[in-house]
Amino acid sequence: MPQPIKYLNAPDVAQRTGRPYNEIINLVKTGLLPSHRNRRGHYRLNVDAVEAYFGIQINKPEEVKRPKEIKLDKTQKGVLSEVKSGGSLFVTGKAGTGKTLLLKHIKEDLEKRKKLAVVLAPTGIAAENAGGMTMHNFLRLPLKPYLPEHKTNPGLYRLTENVERIVTAMDVLIIDEISMVRCDMLDATDMILRHYRKNRKPFGGVQLVMFGDLYQLCPIAKSDEEVTLRNYYKSLYFFSCYAFKKLKYKVVRLKKIYRQDEPDFIKLLNHVREAETELRDLDMLQKRVEPDYVPDVKDKVVTLMTHNNQTDDWNERMFAQLDETPRTYDGIKTGSWYGERLPVKPHLKLKVNARVMFLRNDNEKRQYQNGTLGWVKKLRADSVVVTKDNGKDVEVERATWEQLDYYVDEKTKTILTYPVGKYTQIPLKLAWAVSIHKSQGLTFDEVLIDAAKSFAFGQVYVALSRCRTLKGIHLLSPIPYQKIIADPIVKQYESCIDKDGNVKLPKEFEPIKYEKAALELNVRSARFWKICYGEMKNYVHSIDNPQYAALFFKYERNKLCVQDAFKSIKKDWNYMDSYEGHCPFVQRVYRKVTFYCSIDDLYVDAEIDGTTEIFMNSQGSWSFRFRIGKVGRAH
Ligand SMILES: Nc1ncnc2c1ncn2[C@@H]1O[C@H](COP(=O)(O)OP(=O)(O)OP(=O)(O)O)[C@@H](O)[C@H]1O
Ligand SMILES: [Mg+2]
Repeated sequence: MPQPIKYLNAPDVAQRTGRPYNEIINLVKTGLLPSHRNRRGHYRLNVDAVEAYFGIQINKPEEVKRPKEIKLDKTQKGVLSEVKSGGSLFVTGKAGTGKTLLLKHIKEDLEKRKKLAVVLAPTGIAAENAGGMTMHNFLRLPLKPYLPEHKTNPGLYRLTENVERIVTAMDVLIIDEISMVRCDMLDATDMILRHYRKNRKPFGGVQLVMFGDLYQLCPIAKSDEEVTLRNYYKSLYFFSCYAFKKLKYKVVRLKKIYRQDEPDFIKLLNHVREAETELRDLDMLQKRVEPDYVPDVKDKVVTLMTHNNQTDDWNERMFAQLDETPRTYDGIKTGSWYGERLPVKPHLKLKVNARVMFLRNDNEKRQYQNGTLGWVKKLRADSVVVTKDNGKDVEVERATWEQLDYYVDEKTKTILTYPVGKYTQIPLKLAWAVSIHKSQGLTFDEVLIDAAKSFAFGQVYVALSRCRTLKGIHLLSPIPYQKIIADPIVKQYESCIDKDGNVKLPKEFEPIKYEKAALELNVRSARFWKICYGEMKNYVHSIDNPQYAALFFKYERNKLCVQDAFKSIKKDWNYMDSYEGHCPFVQRVYRKVTFYCSIDDLYVDAEIDGTTEIFMNSQGSWSFRFRIGKVGRAH
């Protein structure tokens, strides 16, 4: 193996990246590309940082990353030429059909043709796997939902000068793991590209090439965010975004599975994918149950679990097995830090040889990103040396997180932020076990899975399909039949794609107009049981936020009543009915809903037309949606 190159001159970097020399010098001067000057005064650029910034490989020759025998098949090659034709694409296919591999080929091909392509993904690990950056990091997307009325908002989405330059110059935007990209993220991307490129076409005229499998993990939203988003979007999937009303894209399916080659295992995975498992499949899975399997602490074998508290427990147990002396790093908190838990433990205990994951992006030197995995090599007083899985060492110092508060400027309809607290800590966590959500896109030879408490569509499928062989899977617990679930909306979407790859979505899929927002109320789990067993025929909903009150109520001839918009919500009840608590969709008949408007201290009764749809969101609380028939008078 040739020795890795550590530094390159600016002209070499310009040549390898295909970017103008001046641009490289500007990046150096603004500090985005770390460098030093040699005795002749020439800039020497850090190769790690160049690789991370431009998403290119300088030190890894082709042969190392992609063995020679990998040749693109006919469909994969077809996608390459579709991309050349310039149209936007959604490349889909089952897990392991080579979507991410093809993505990398496409990027190389575009680079050869001097086209600037940016690769993004919704999670850090997926971004790392595809050789790109996270959407949030690159486009500075806010953590809160982006709502269509927060139109152009340069204050919030202020890109750095260099990212702005890339955004203005880019020709193609490639997104991997699109199934996890929430519709509002894509709308925000569309807005940012249109704004910075000063081009009103969808995505500012950039060609969009998306990769993903909708039967894998779906987008996530906190319960309150989901309620807000559902006022605008029919579903949280990427295809429901407003931007797609104007953007035509074609769908291409990759058919051949490469990750696995055992016909029985492939059959099992296909059945799990569409939630059509048979007894035989369940038997095969049952045979893989090994509750007492304990891997060696120095093994690279990954443990996949559904919940963070499970992965935490597992990691603690593995950590205890290491003989090395632990060192504790204390986090420093200033101001207030409320609500969610701290991004890293306040007393982070580490040992040499511990398996770790980075918890944030290295915005300065770009040597790691949220989700990068590695092993602890050295523990220093205020820093930790980690050998990343790609073999490179990186010294990790303390990083600072800000607790932001948000408020909406009513006049400009913009969301503004201000910091209320700070937290400084080494951005690492133990990682022998990671969540199934974080594993999407990866390939393993051996994997331990605990998926008994799965809660999301596609979660079991993602976990099982990571492994090359059935033998490589050790199930720490049996997978209950009811946990193998597929989203009916995905099936519906897939049925809207014709044989030429054109998508014709029915009207019900179109984003909801603001005034016609569906009435959705969030219900705590305790209430759900009552609803489920039909005890509750009436439901009183109290609306005490003036902003929401205007959505629900209006005055007509001095009489308070419910907005007309709710009366015209279209019915689309295709979901299964079930009395089981774990079933995500249920329908029930109610007679009446009473709204209490605390601003006016009045009640309004409304009859409910038809059935009520109840659905569980990813955080485990429940919302329900219904259509209002006759509205009574306020009392
Ligand atoms: N044409 C090909 N020939 C040989 N191997 C291939 C080919 N395409 C992909 N592979 C291999 O198949 C495996 C899975 O590929 P990849 O991760 O790109 O699949 P994917 O469709 O992105 O999966 P996921 O949906 O899980 O993200 C990889 O090991 C890859 O090298
Ligand atoms: Mg992939």
